[in-house]
Amino acid sequence: MNRESNYQSAFQELEEQVKRCDRCGLCSSRTQTVFGEGKLNSKLMLVGEAPGEDEDKTGRPFVGRAGQLLDKILIAAKIDRQAAYVANVVKCRPPNNRTPTQDEILKCGGFLEAQIALIKPKILVALGNTPLKFFLKVSGGITKMRGQWQMWRGVPLFAMFHPSYLLREDSRAVGSPKELTWHDVQELKLRLDELN
Ligand code: URA
Ligand code: URA
Repeated sequence: MNRESNYQSAFQELEEQVKRCDRCGLCSSRTQTVFGEGKLNSKLMLVGEAPGEDEDKTGRPFVGRAGQLLDKILIAAKIDRQAAYVANVVKCRPPNNRTPTQDEILKCGGFLEAQIALIKPKILVALGNTPLKFFLKVSGGITKMRGQWQMWRGVPLFAMFHPSYLLREDSRAVGSPKELTWHDVQELKLRLDELN
């Protein structure tokens, strides 16, 4: 087998492990797991919280309302989602979209770490508090940490508001979460362009 097919089969094996996973209670209420999708070897990896209802139904990340807003935000900044890899910290839908527990995050987090190890992104983006908690072991830090660069195991990590939060925050006034996100995504685009 050549390197390319080794790489793809490592990815497929990981996805199979996720499909069979019963490490936490979410396996009993899920319709299916949501592994993640996008370009392998991508420079950019976006990390959300956990699947919602639409993701649980389709098996794909960020396809519901939050995903549609994420698409709009990326398009506005001319960032190509198809060229990125999109995943979540937790691969199964929490009932009623509650925030994943620390136990669920710990039990599922190894899969995300394995995905990152395979993709080797040059930039990681944490969307909201759950990925921020996973990467940096901080809780509730998104309001302070958004728009800032951190490091996670040698990879630049950028924090942005979660699109679901933006759906609940209508204002576009200066300093509002939507307006701040517009600046953040442009900053992200600048850094991405510097890689090319
Ligand atoms: N919210 C997330 O955090 N991830 C998804 O995939 C969808 C909604
Ligand atoms: N809580 C989150 O998890 N994410 C946000 O972006 C804002 C509040």
